[in-house]
Amino acid sequence: MSTDDASADSSAALGDEIVLTLNDEDRALSVEAGQSLRDALRANGLTGTKDGCEVGKCGACTVLKDGQAVKSCLVPAHQAAETSVTTIEGLATDGELHPVQDAFIDCFGLQCGYCTPGFVMTTVALLSETPDPSREEIRDELKGNLCRCTGYTKIFDAVEDAADRLE
Ligand code: FES
Ligand code: FES
Repeated sequence: MSTDDASADSSAALGDEIVLTLNDEDRALSVEAGQSLRDALRANGLTGTKDGCEVGKCGACTVLKDGQAVKSCLVPAHQAAETSVTTIEGLATDGELHPVQDAFIDCFGLQCGYCTPGFVMTTVALLSETPDPSREEIRDELKGNLCRCTGYTKIFDAVEDAADRLE
């Protein structure tokens, strides 16, 4: 076996690359067999996508995949190939926070903040489809995101405030 062959075998054993649009940039992302999208994102430096329950129950790992909110711990990383993925790191524009992020801050919709990226990403998806949701629709849409700190009221307030900002 040549040196080149040996190095090709070695890199195949370490993992693979997928090509996708990540936070509005064309990117190649290193992924490993069986790895979740969440773990691939975090391994590639995007640690705003949080590592919570690992079984789809907490929503801390929520990202947008082709505009839909998905729990990235449940998405095999390879399934993100040729898709558009947005993480919390991709929401700010020219150093300005996204209006949903501003609303969460101004309405005190966070305490420890661990759940916040997931709530923000779910809210961005909700408001892109339902710009003026009722409180009931907000509760329903966010029921897959868990928060241990806030008691939810201020989070729901933040979503309503974000809807007003995006009008
Ligand atoms: S870490 Fe994905 S839903 Fe909890
Ligand atoms: S702010 Fe701490 S878990 Fe939600």
